Amino acid sequence: MRSYYCGHINEGLMGQDVNLCGWVHRRRDHGGVIFIDLRDREGRVQIVFDPDCHDIFAMAEKVRSEYVLHIVGRVRQRPEGTINPDLATGQIEVMVSDMTILNVSETPPIQIDDDTVSEEHRLKYRYLDLRRPEMLQRLRFRSRITQNLRNFLEERGFIDVETPMLTKSTPEGARDYLVPSRTHPGQFFALPQSPQLFKQLLMMSGLDRYYQVVRCFRDEDLRADRQPEFTQLDIEASFIDENQIMTLMEDMIRDVFAAVLEEQLPSSFPRMSYQDAISRFGVDKPDLRIPLELIEVSDLMTQVDFKVFSGPAKDKQGRVAVLNIPNGCELTRKQIDEYTQYVGIYGAKGLAYIKVNDASAGREGLQSPIVKFMDDDVLTALLQRTAAEDGDLMFFGADKATIVNEALGALRVKVGHDRNLVEHGWKPLWVVDFPMFERDEKNDRWSALHHPFTAPVSDDITALKQAPGEALSRAYDLILNGCEVGGGSIRIHSTEMQQAVLNVLGIDDAEAKEKFGFLLDALKYGAPPHGGIAFGLDRLVMLMTGASSIREVMAFPKTQTAACLLTDAPSGVSDRHLKELALRPKKPTEK
Ligand code: AMO
Ligand code: AMP
Repeated sequence: MRSYYCGHINEGLMGQDVNLCGWVHRRRDHGGVIFIDLRDREGRVQIVFDPDCHDIFAMAEKVRSEYVLHIVGRVRQRPEGTINPDLATGQIEVMVSDMTILNVSETPPIQIDDDTVSEEHRLKYRYLDLRRPEMLQRLRFRSRITQNLRNFLEERGFIDVETPMLTKSTPEGARDYLVPSRTHPGQFFALPQSPQLFKQLLMMSGLDRYYQVVRCFRDEDLRADRQPEFTQLDIEASFIDENQIMTLMEDMIRDVFAAVLEEQLPSSFPRMSYQDAISRFGVDKPDLRIPLELIEVSDLMTQVDFKVFSGPAKDKQGRVAVLNIPNGCELTRKQIDEYTQYVGIYGAKGLAYIKVNDASAGREGLQSPIVKFMDDDVLTALLQRTAAEDGDLMFFGADKATIVNEALGALRVKVGHDRNLVEHGWKPLWVVDFPMFERDEKNDRWSALHHPFTAPVSDDITALKQAPGEALSRAYDLILNGCEVGGGSIRIHSTEMQQAVLNVLGIDDAEAKEKFGFLLDALKYGAPPHGGIAFGLDRLVMLMTGASSIREVMAFPKTQTAACLLTDAPSGVSDRHLKELALRPKKPTEK
């Protein structure tokens, strides 16, 4: 039917007859001649209808946007003055000698070349939205990236193994999607939050090197970089330590950037401890393209006559920190108010500031509602510590350390973008030395910072149980331009340590047996030391394509409320179906 893609027609085919299939992108009538831009996945080409060919011309008159055509025609040079330099095929056109209308189209609810359509509409008519070259490009790009990653791993002896979708809960910190079992009334499968336990079991099976491009399911609050179902490139290897894994993964990421984007990433990715990341950037996934840092000033503020500052400064859980904004004196009252509101989202109760008009003039050179609370020594030390220059503005955060970190961490990124401070290029970073546990104050217990199968740095079980808050883990996260693209760890491979970690998390032996008995059993029969990592493939593709959200790199994503507008899922099911599953909904299902 087809000899060439529309987008592949070029001057080299001049004078030849071609068979094309595609969609009517646009039709124009010009003084008795009809021009159609015919589109397929490779691009567009102009086809021309001669009024002297009556039958075909009459057919062309009936053709509308998005009709599907098959044409036969001869490639020719476009006449002088009609060359379109914006189109890859803009030098030539195809003179139609025969045409079949393969299908008609109603007026589409969205215009294929309209990029102002609401996202809701785009998701509802995704099959039309995906006709847009931009979307098609991203899907093709994604396929190339996946292919490249697979090749890299296959070449290094990693084996692609599929793991179950109907399974038992794997704790990765989100809620599970549950699937009721018909054959076991009242019992449920969980869809995997990740294949974590299966990949560990595969190491215990002696597979040695595993990978999988795998769908994961997490019922959590959605954001631009989170979807309820998403894809991981999941990897695990035996007899390997964290340095070997990180080095191998750096090679893989460098390789895919070079192959697909022709971008050279640094020959070695820097590493930073979790502690450093939090204290310097407020977050565990710092965007190193932004040259601003949080500066610790708690020690300077313990004696100031301003309780808002001295309180947190003296509190072990508190923090006072400065974010110095170069040339920040330019900020207007209104902008400062907006930033104050912004940090409010993160729980900050205010955003004190000092404008440094003249750093050499001491107190006189500073403009601020709070300098009156600080004596000269404090002001001098402050200027020295922050290295603030004339024209700079210091923002202050004073509160519980967690609030200051989140608020100033987010402000740093916002100000960085607002003031065009974001450097170009790629800034990868490994964050390491994570704590094993973090305190869940609300529920008065410890929770795992990664997952409960992550090995601690120290093998000392007694110490771990005595001071869980002190223990560091053998985990590593890969951050790229402020986005967590991957995370993994060396795993626990001893039953005793696994049990101890579960105990710290408040899971007693009976519950551990019920939830992870299969893992604890497997650990008894010769589990090799092992570790791995999982990349968020959607996030990686989002970054590599410059897309604003992972929804833009998924063919059929869900909305912020985890619904599919295209298929109208989730939806109610019939009473009969529910009965079979031994389920009774609390409220009648209605839409
Ligand atoms: P983790 O939970 O860090 O680790 O997930 C790995 C990577 O998956 C991506 N990711 C997501 N992407 C889109 N939407 C989501 N809701 C979402 N949640 C996570 C992130 C993240 O870095 N089993 C471990 C890995 C391991 O230890 O080997 C795990 O799942 O990019
Ligand atoms: P007030 O004395 O409450 O008017 O506050 C004086 C300045 O301190 C204002 O600029 C507030 O925005 C700021 N401020 C108040 N609480 C905090 C806080 N927890 N951290 C930083 N700045 C604050």
